[in-house]
Amino acid sequence: MSTAHRKCSNKGVSSNEWLRRQMRDIYVKQAGKENYRCRSAFKLLQIDEKYRILKPGHVVIDCGAAPGSWCQVAAQKVNAYGQDACQPRGTVIGIDLQSMAPIDGVHLLPLCDFTSEATQHRVREILKNKKADVLLSDMAPAATGVKSHNHEAIVTLCFSVLTFSLSVLKEGGTIVCKLWSGGDQPRLEKAMRAICDSVRVVKPSASRGDSAEIFLMGKGFHGFRTP
Ligand SMILES: C[S@@+](CC[C@H](N)C(=O)[O-])C[C@H]1O[C@@H](n2cnc3c(N)ncnc32)[C@H](O)[C@@H]1O
Repeated sequence: MSTAHRKCSNKGVSSNEWLRRQMRDIYVKQAGKENYRCRSAFKLLQIDEKYRILKPGHVVIDCGAAPGSWCQVAAQKVNAYGQDACQPRGTVIGIDLQSMAPIDGVHLLPLCDFTSEATQHRVREILKNKKADVLLSDMAPAATGVKSHNHEAIVTLCFSVLTFSLSVLKEGGTIVCKLWSGGDQPRLEKAMRAICDSVRVVKPSASRGDSAEIFLMGKGFHGFRTP
């Protein structure tokens, strides 16, 4: 099992079962062919294909970035390494608890806990006075055998993303947050609706049908409005 694939396999299935499934999976094969670090790339590609959230020149913050396939996709879409001289050059910042190999044009913050003030301070330093257009979170806590605990832990991470959005996201910006569905989903959706014009639940086809994984996407960020 490659390091990259091990890092994407945080799902609580046995490693034999996980390996068998990976070998049958079309997105695993496609990720290998297209040089993406893991199959998750296709989730972001499919979300972007449908909702057009990533544009050249955009500033993107990717929370829970290891091994780096969302950063790879974002870097291509926002022109982060100036690959298209006719388009504005974007910025991608990727943060993860794990180590990550460098990605062209991407600011990586490996071995960093996104929820810590020190990490968030480093992100603001990279942004200088700019704000982000898109805040992504594919963060997943280490899964336990207890679904409700996993749900609570991932919802807590999502709330930390919403709180961070208040200080770093541009008016009109977009938030995409991975979640394992469960009882706290309505509370999270309500919180997102308070700061974004529209909120929808997204399940790209690359997200396995038998997984509780969904993505909440908030568009038209405006922060809290005073009545
Ligand atoms: C599903 S993986 C992300 C895959 C990634 N989007 C990609 O395409 O390569 C989830 C990641 O969330 C990270 N994570 C979980 N909690 C975190 C936290 N508090 N701060 C930063 N990263 C976190 C894990 O270390 C793990 O690498």
